[in-house]
Amino acid sequence: MNKPLPNSTAAMDAAHQVHPHTDLRAHLKTGPSELFVRGEGINVFDSDGKDYIEGAAALWCSSLGFGSERLGNVAKEVMTNLGYYHNFRGSGTPQAAELCGKLADIAPNGMDKILLQSSGTEANDTALKLVWYYWNSQGAPQRRKIISRNEAYHGTGTLTSCLTGKVKFHDGYGLPFDGFHYVTMPYHYRMAEPGESEEEFSTRCAEEIEALILREGPETVAAFWAEPVLGSGGAITPPKGYFEKIQAVLDKYGVLFVADEVICGFARTGEMWGTQTYQLKPDMICCAKALSAAMVPISAVIIGDRVFEGMMAQSDKFGSFTHGYTYSGHPVACAVASEVLTIYQEMDLVNHVKALELGFLKGFHDLADHPLIGDVDGIGLIGAVEVVANKDTKAMHAPELKVMPMLDRLTRKHGLITRLIGNRIALAPPQIITAPEVEEMFTRLRAALDECLKTLPAA
Ligand SMILES: Cc1ncc(COP(=O)(O)O)c(C=O)c1O
Repeated sequence: MNKPLPNSTAAMDAAHQVHPHTDLRAHLKTGPSELFVRGEGINVFDSDGKDYIEGAAALWCSSLGFGSERLGNVAKEVMTNLGYYHNFRGSGTPQAAELCGKLADIAPNGMDKILLQSSGTEANDTALKLVWYYWNSQGAPQRRKIISRNEAYHGTGTLTSCLTGKVKFHDGYGLPFDGFHYVTMPYHYRMAEPGESEEEFSTRCAEEIEALILREGPETVAAFWAEPVLGSGGAITPPKGYFEKIQAVLDKYGVLFVADEVICGFARTGEMWGTQTYQLKPDMICCAKALSAAMVPISAVIIGDRVFEGMMAQSDKFGSFTHGYTYSGHPVACAVASEVLTIYQEMDLVNHVKALELGFLKGFHDLADHPLIGDVDGIGLIGAVEVVANKDTKAMHAPELKVMPMLDRLTRKHGLITRLIGNRIALAPPQIITAPEVEEMFTRLRAALDECLKTLPAA
């Protein structure tokens, strides 16, 4: 049982904590919606003792659920014996060495160089520097331009905000910088022309990228950036043929491909990597989140031969690879992540997710006939339903009805936390979830949708 928190805790939060992605003025008045104090398996408990299934694995990251004595002991041992040492100027720790070895063993396409970082944002920011470092090494410093996609999310650092294709992450900051271009998101349900098949839509998306490259000049285009499955863009899986057609365009013009697997890595899409699910050929992969089951901050850029050769050439030219952070390769984080990879092996993570996938997708498909649901989409253990007012026209509810905030309240009331993105409700539960828990998650979601429907005015 939780010990009740003093009222002053919420008051302190309201008065002093600046919360990301939060209405700042409202928060000063209302304070935190919940304070989470404990977790067990796929459940989290708030300070009032209410428990919720965390259907979004917090921020798509808590792959092993919440609370772990085993991982706590690993962290404790490293903290007790060493605490910290860095990996600058060729030194290091066994924990970082071991993690890099393990990650290289499971990395796709023979990619085996690992650059450790501390967050998804850092990994993407670093990969962007490496793209430019690479092209400079090739005597092509004019290759600076980046192609990303509308609604893509790659972080909120200064440069990663520019990779991110969500306008609301640019507004108010004077971003993006020049040289970042955004193409149509692979969202067949809303972006396809009437009657356009998935394949035709994919062809159009690839042609749009080729036209952009030609318009800008292929000699100026550095890289294409994409998540295998758009996560914060709506848990949207790519339409048939999408990446195959785009990969052909990238190959034709020699444009680098960076796969952001911050969400998709570690079996979220049913294979260890989204890169494998969709047979991608990226030059670099960014991973984070489930790398440590989100128990400690750590991320990595997995670097393929082409880019690494360029990095070595630059290192030769300038005397060393001039990039790194104090906490890149922190031994506590590395030891925890290493243990997480061992746990994945023990639980046969990929096959565990594959075994759950059918039931998970059935949960979505069973909701397809719900009067509030327009689109259902998913793969592996990530998916979403799209809430509409009219299934035929795909019209959304009037904003004043505040349907999505209502659904957020109702799902929580029924003991389920989901991720709301626009009018989509995404689920990406901890990968340790079981088949009965998957069913229970959808039972709670349906209960919330039913209750919402009852309170809405008749169409
Ligand atoms: C695909 C993707 N890339 C990058 C990031 C940024 O990661 P972080 O929040 O660890 O900086 C996120 C975070 O949700 C993400 O989903």
